[in-house]
Amino acid sequence: MGLLTVVSALSLLGAAHAEFNIVRHVAPAPRAKEAAALPPAEFSVPFTAKTPRRSSKKGALAALRGKPTKKIPGKKAPGAGGSTVAVDGSDFDEEYLTNVTIGGQHFSLIIDTGSSDTWVAQKGFNCFDLDGNPVSADTCAFGTPGLDTATSKTFQPFPNVSFNITYGDGEFLSGPVGFDTVSIGGLSVSHQEIGVPTLTAWEGDGINTGLIGLAFPGLTSVYNTTDPTKASGANQLPYNPLFLSAVSQKKVKNPFFSVALDRGTFDQQENDPFDPNLGFLSFGGIAPVPVTNTAVTVPVQGYSATTGLPSNAPGSEFFFYTVDVEAYTFPGSNHVITANNNTILDTGTTLNFVPTEVAAAYSAQFKPPATLDPDFGLYIVDCDAKVPAFNVVIGGKTFTVDARDQIIPAGTDDNGNIICITGTQDGGPDVDGDIFILGDVFLHNVVSTYNPVAGEVTLTQRAKY
Ligand SMILES: *[C@@H]1O[C@H](CO)[C@@H](O)[C@H](O)[C@H]1NC(C)=O
Ligand SMILES: *[C@@H]1O[C@H](CO)[C@@H](O)[C@H](O)[C@H]1NC(C)=O
Ligand SMILES: *[C@@H]1O[C@H](CO)[C@@H](O)[C@H](O)[C@H]1NC(C)=O
Ligand SMILES: *[C@@H]1O[C@H](CO)[C@@H](O)[C@H](O)[C@H]1NC(C)=O
Ligand SMILES: *[C@@H]1O[C@H](CO)[C@@H](O)[C@H](O)[C@H]1NC(C)=O
Repeated sequence: MGLLTVVSALSLLGAAHAEFNIVRHVAPAPRAKEAAALPPAEFSVPFTAKTPRRSSKKGALAALRGKPTKKIPGKKAPGAGGSTVAVDGSDFDEEYLTNVTIGGQHFSLIIDTGSSDTWVAQKGFNCFDLDGNPVSADTCAFGTPGLDTATSKTFQPFPNVSFNITYGDGEFLSGPVGFDTVSIGGLSVSHQEIGVPTLTAWEGDGINTGLIGLAFPGLTSVYNTTDPTKASGANQLPYNPLFLSAVSQKKVKNPFFSVALDRGTFDQQENDPFDPNLGFLSFGGIAPVPVTNTAVTVPVQGYSATTGLPSNAPGSEFFFYTVDVEAYTFPGSNHVITANNNTILDTGTTLNFVPTEVAAAYSAQFKPPATLDPDFGLYIVDCDAKVPAFNVVIGGKTFTVDARDQIIPAGTDDNGNIICITGTQDGGPDVDGDIFILGDVFLHNVVSTYNPVAGEVTLTQRAKY
């Protein structure tokens, strides 16, 4: 550990065509390993999708900038927040939801590797808008009336504590905490700690009633206070998220869960709001989709508990599935610093959010170039533009992102014309503490397998589909 050396070099290349070539050398991934041999999964559950619900261009674009991806308590929110929000007019509008039962009651929940709490709205919840004003319950647009804790035979309250979470886009929830049996794809975890919020500021989709967070205990949001407004780092009561409970209850042989997110098709959206074939969430091994030989296992990057910056020093803590991106490679990428060791793998975010300079350099390579829309802070691109190649180098291996993931119909303007945005957007300047995101745009191209016990992630390039 602690061996990553970063050397910055500025060199002039060629006398005739003198140009600056900025390189950030990251020592060749001393911590990367041969890809772990991953067994087939013991349990798999398919993802389901839904049609978009947002009609205004503004709403659609704003939605792309925000959803799960929790803030580290007391630290800055990840650059752009995450998003699972469906986008009107998009043919890539997946929400990665799975069927789950809690206390024997059926729900569809969002799967999020960018946060750690499992929660389901509690029956009788009070809905609020994002400014905190009370609104009618149907405004929260949950898919069910919520968990009825009274009729669950397995629900047990956790007295005198509270759940309080705010996501990157400003959605927030608070309320009681309890324990219940959570079953998903043949995996059944008993006595799982869950939030059962009664105060919900949520921009739902009419399908989901909550979310399953699969990141680390340090990101959980239960506090030792009956008053959720008194939640703080000092009274946080970290607990095992769902998958770590499954491991400790020996419900899986191997401590892996694995995600294959299929890109959706236009056809599916037009003809059928539900598509059972949007990939898999799998437990105990690798998700069951065809893959190539390109694979690597890398350690999860930890954070210093004091500075909140990436650190490998003793006492550093895991929050997100953060990886060291050694480089993004695309035409012209050697002119910018592309290495970044504070980038998370987040199923709860639709787009990639990369450092400003990387996004600018990549956007310029579309033909015609993508341009930054000042209203939305997003790169807009001609829907028929030629897409430059884009690869992500992690652990010495190069993972290719399909061109189809880099142009996303994001809504229609007032005249009914389709507006497209790029899949790889500006996540803010590359300064200390800013967290960047490899979202579904990247994750459509790999199987990502997470081992929260060893603190490792295995990425495997998928066969083209
Ligand atoms: C998920 O649940 C819904 C509603 O209970 C059901 O109609 C659907 O078939 C389920 N999907 C899968 C893939 O099990
Ligand atoms: C919860 O708080 C109440 C009031 O402070 C107290 O009487 C009770 O013993 C507490 N319960 C638990 C389980 O700590
Ligand atoms: C909550 O804090 C009280 C002291 O204020 C302590 O007695 C209790 O054990 C704590 N509860 C938990 C679950 O840690
Ligand atoms: C959550 O806790 C914060 C303090 O950490 C507080 O400002 C906020 O009001 C709480 N949210 C809810 C919904 O209680
Ligand atoms: C992460 O990258 C920054 C910026 O290059 C560097 O200063 C820092 O030492 C790196 N941290 C780790 C743990 O690699």
